[in-house]
Amino acid sequence: MAYPDMLSLKGQSALVTGASSGIGRAVAVALAEAGADVAVNYHGSREGAERTVEMIHALGGTAVAIRADVASESDVKALYDTAEQALGPLDIVVSNAGRQKDAAIGDMSLDAWNAVLSTNLTGAFLVGREAILRFRRKGMRPEVSRALGKLIFNSSVHERIPWAFRVNYAASKGGLKLLMESLAQEVSEERIRVNSVAPGAIATEINRAEREKDDGEKAMLALIPYKRIGDPEDIGRASAWLASDASDYVVGQTLFIDGGMTLYPEFRGGG
Ligand code: BGC
Repeated sequence: MAYPDMLSLKGQSALVTGASSGIGRAVAVALAEAGADVAVNYHGSREGAERTVEMIHALGGTAVAIRADVASESDVKALYDTAEQALGPLDIVVSNAGRQKDAAIGDMSLDAWNAVLSTNLTGAFLVGREAILRFRRKGMRPEVSRALGKLIFNSSVHERIPWAFRVNYAASKGGLKLLMESLAQEVSEERIRVNSVAPGAIATEINRAEREKDDGEKAMLALIPYKRIGDPEDIGRASAWLASDASDYVVGQTLFIDGGMTLYPEFRGGG
């Protein structure tokens, strides 16, 4: 098959969690652009999810918005049931929902710790576990993909870079790294591909306050060798590739999409 044809997700169904804004929205739109039908999960913002659905409709695609808290086991089961009723068995799942609640260690409440770990790590476990069960139930569909299923986690450069004043967030992403790798090791022989994308500084709500501080953008750019803040679409396009047969031999990997943030930019001058 020619390379451009391998990028097509036509005939496949996808679920993207946390797709009412930011990176999740861009991933949902990119998957739809590649031809997939998309279940757009949201927790807080129904309007945001409906906007994502409208964007997909404007491309001539199929999408449906579904509310669920990824940290709730019963919500996650219901999310998959509703998505599959609407779109048929899922071929692609992007576990994207995530949050930050920053605080210095002395001020970090147990609530702030639990909230971030629940969404970012327990949520990834629940969404990932259900994805595997549903892929198995669906069976192979060689007419649309060489893999039984594609599961992609949205991690972060902070699965590798320690992050002061955010031990909850960094711990959740460090945990996600080994969750992804261990799960990939466990299920790859079933032709299920599990991978992560690890975004750097992408212009979304999650870091808006940080970017809009005096010199906030300058401080961020100092950490980015490529000298631009990322766009959500940078992650959307990479995720669509990871979900496609064009990346069929990519298994258990974290794809850093960060303008070089993980390259120790402070050593640029030679140290
Ligand atoms: C965080 C952003 C941050 C970026 C780079 C992401 O995982 O959510 O707030 O700008 O990492 O530090």
